[in-house]
Amino acid sequence: MPGTVIVGTQWGDEGKGRFTDLLCEDMSMVVRYQGGHNAGHTIIADGHTLALQLVPSGILYRHVTPVIGNGVVVDPAVLIAECDMLEGKGIDTSRLKLSGNAHLIMPYHQELDKVTERFLGKNKLGTTKRGIGPSYADKATRVGIRVQDLLDEKIFSAKLDLALREKNGVLAKVYNRLPMKASEIFTRYRSYLERLEPMIADTVELIHETLERNENVLFEGAQATFLDLDQGTYPYVTSSNPVAGGACTGAGVGPRHINRIIGVAKAYVTRVGSGPFPTDLFDEVSDLLVDRGGEYGTNTGRRRRPGWLDAVMLRHAVRLNSLTELALTKLDVLAPLTELKICVAYEDESGRRYDHVPYHQSVLHKVKPVYETLPGWGAEIGEVARFEDLPAAARDYVAAIESLAGVPVTFCSVGPARGQTVVMPAAA
Ligand code: IMP
Repeated sequence: MPGTVIVGTQWGDEGKGRFTDLLCEDMSMVVRYQGGHNAGHTIIADGHTLALQLVPSGILYRHVTPVIGNGVVVDPAVLIAECDMLEGKGIDTSRLKLSGNAHLIMPYHQELDKVTERFLGKNKLGTTKRGIGPSYADKATRVGIRVQDLLDEKIFSAKLDLALREKNGVLAKVYNRLPMKASEIFTRYRSYLERLEPMIADTVELIHETLERNENVLFEGAQATFLDLDQGTYPYVTSSNPVAGGACTGAGVGPRHINRIIGVAKAYVTRVGSGPFPTDLFDEVSDLLVDRGGEYGTNTGRRRRPGWLDAVMLRHAVRLNSLTELALTKLDVLAPLTELKICVAYEDESGRRYDHVPYHQSVLHKVKPVYETLPGWGAEIGEVARFEDLPAAARDYVAAIESLAGVPVTFCSVGPARGQTVVMPAAA
């Protein structure tokens, strides 16, 4: 079965978009299976720097059908603005398909995301305030409004009235906010239909037709393994399932439709927002990683927290996603460092060693990383095109990651541009 999943192995921002873009050459379809416009990926191609939030990376390829699957939550205004931005750069968006079963992000979701974060004070999650969590919450409590509901004004109006009855109560009585007007939201959302209707499709049917023709389908995860609602560092997670299994529910395929699962790992780690982070760094290396890596959110502009590569997490990500391989990004960022550290285990306060990610939050929040130190290579590598031309210390660093993770590294990125990718001999 020609299904490939691409998934982040850390806390997001690993640079998945560039590999999605690279793999697109061989794909007929690229499907986003979860998340919303909390995601942000940057693709640098043909002189364009494209910051995408909702539209799958495959949009740049005329032979690819980009699909927003049922597992995604969609803010229609953002989707339309993104299509306008792409069209403005001469990129055709007419092939884009949007699942009629995807849930909508409504104005009250965004408002609730903001006020609940404020309400949580120092316990806030550090969400992107895009309404992602509240929209998924409504999906789970079965009061969500789906893309297909927009097509029928009676259904849309009835569902909106029902939702607002409860949301306005909460906004006014709990958070002291002004109630929202159904008529305004109704008119605004119905006005999006003109643009959305041509995209709305039975995406499950389309995906299966493509798979049955034996054509390749790429399932593109947003966020990452440790932001997964079930497997991540709860509650400091997003509200969907980025792990590879999420591709099944979020796109409507079974596990046997997937035969290749690529985990994208940054050569170090970053995290935005709150939550445990065993290899979190606060020294001068941290500034170097942020500066050289441009570690500021594509979406929110927030400074990302940087840390050394964590092989304990990586091994766990291999298991949680059944990874067949790893793609390593931003190896070039490490160039000036004379020594590099990899976290190979954790130790708790009593000195107990963990070779796996401990399930208990009280343990995970307090563990200290156990590091192995490797020599740096002290040279820029942005021009390197072949693995064998990387400095020996860089090759050793990659080999150490392979050995600690237990799966091969098949791609390495050595700079932000499309061409700055080293394809490993095994994958070439
Ligand atoms: P939410 O997804 O906006 O609810 O935010 C929940 C957590 O996930 C916060 O810590 C966010 O910073 C994080 N998050 C959400 N999307 C991304 C992403 O695309 N990259 C990195 N972190 C993200």
